[in-house]
Amino acid sequence: MPAQLINGKSLSATLRQQIAAEIATQVGKGVRRPGLAVILVGQDPASQIYVRNKSLACEEVGIQSFYYGLPESCSQEELGALIEQLNADPAVDGILLQLPLPKPLDASRVLESIDPCKDVDGFHPYNLGRLAERRPLLRPCTPRGIMTLLDSIQTEYRKKHAVIVGASNIVGRPMALELLLAGCTISVCHRFTQNLAYFVKQAELLICAVGKPGLIQGDWIQEGATVIDVGISRLPDGSLRGDVDFESARMKAAWLTPVPGGVGPMTIAMLLRNTVEIWQSSATFISTPQFTGTEGSARRC
Ligand code: GUN
Repeated sequence: MPAQLINGKSLSATLRQQIAAEIATQVGKGVRRPGLAVILVGQDPASQIYVRNKSLACEEVGIQSFYYGLPESCSQEELGALIEQLNADPAVDGILLQLPLPKPLDASRVLESIDPCKDVDGFHPYNLGRLAERRPLLRPCTPRGIMTLLDSIQTEYRKKHAVIVGASNIVGRPMALELLLAGCTISVCHRFTQNLAYFVKQAELLICAVGKPGLIQGDWIQEGATVIDVGISRLPDGSLRGDVDFESARMKAAWLTPVPGGVGPMTIAMLLRNTVEIWQSSATFISTPQFTGTEGSARRC
């Protein structure tokens, strides 16, 4: 029987409706809207589309989005000054720095300068450390979205062997921490892994986040596996492809995410969810306040 598809688009739509309703209820009581600052450095076309989609999704649910487009030539200091300004701005709950940054900017340094309480992507070492030590606070959006998708199909995690292909800071590494926390046994494959097919075959739960279209062949996949495809690449004919060869994988897996319409919409839903959670825990949540300038430091985190 072909795999059942896990519909991230419809789950994301449901979550967005819930988030919009939560915001509307509070705004109706006089609470200020949540705010998300989105920073894009340079002109990368894919990043421009991602950032636009994130800003549109914010507006749709009632989150105020503040866009900051900086030139590719901007310096580390200019970017640092913007982060400092946003850290201190009580109307900004979350700060999102779209990655990758153009060279020679140092993304790690900038991410570390974001107030961990406003770290809506969960990339600050404080938030990654909390996840590593099993006390998550703000969790990276794509892995959190995948956990939400897996929960939606009632995945049993304990004792399962999860194999993650790709060890990026954005997806692979935090994904491993999420699945470890959930009780899986984990293998992480990366560019130095020998015999990728062997590891993929061991996966009861397979997460692919590489960005190489069709890398994972259906005959590598264990019968009955759950397969989550994070990769999204545009082919020369304009179509979108995941890391997993969809047609052949569908004949082996029990569950499979489509590309597009699987993980992508969940990443955005989790960005909105993280923003709302920061807003709800902020010192300025209770009423529309007279700002004193101390609210940022008074956040509970
Ligand atoms: N670039 C690719 N994915 C992401 C993401 O989830 N967050 C940010 N900030 N940049 C990205």
